[in-house]
Amino acid sequence: MPKKIEITAQFTVYENQNELTPPDQLLVSAALAARAGSHSPYSEFQVGAAVQLADGQIITGANIENAAYGPTTCAEQVALFSVMKLGQETTKQVRTIAVVGPDQKPTLITPCGVCRQVIKEVEDIVSQPLRILMVKVNGEIYETVGIENLLPLGFGPADLQ
Ligand code: THU
Repeated sequence: MPKKIEITAQFTVYENQNELTPPDQLLVSAALAARAGSHSPYSEFQVGAAVQLADGQIITGANIENAAYGPTTCAEQVALFSVMKLGQETTKQVRTIAVVGPDQKPTLITPCGVCRQVIKEVEDIVSQPLRILMVKVNGEIYETVGIENLLPLGFGPADLQ
C-alpha cells in the first residue's frame, strides 16, 4: 500500500520592520538600498537582496535583466554568487539572506524556484539552516529558517553521491 506523507513548512511573520532585531533591520535596509543597482528596464521590478555573513559583513545584489529576457538574473543569485566567488571559506559564513521588491509594487518577495535551488546549494556548503527574510516594502516580513521550508524534497549535492 502506498503511504501518504505530509510535509509542513514553518514561518515567523513580523508585522513590520520595527519588530526585527537591529541587525536584521540593518540587513533589510541594505537590501532596500541594493535596489539602486537593479537593471530592470523590462519588468521595471527592482529587487534587492542582502546576505549576512557570520562576521557581520553584508554583501548585496540586485536583479539584472537582459533584452533577451532569458539571461536575467535575480537579486538573490547576484548576491549569493558575489559571496560564492570569494571562495568556500567565505560562503561557509553565510547566515541570512533578505530580499525586497520595488516601492511601487509592494508585495511579499519570495525567492523564485531557481533562487531556492541556489540557496539550497549555499545551505549545503554552510552545513546549517540558512535564515531567509522575505520582505514586503512597508509591510510584513516572513522569516524562515532552512531552505527545506521553501524547497521541500530539494535536490542537492548529497543526491550525487
Ligand atoms: N526577481 C528577483 O530578482 N528575485 C525574486 O525573488 C523574484 C523576481 C526579478 C527577476 C526579474 O528581473 C524581475 O524580478 C521580475 O520577475
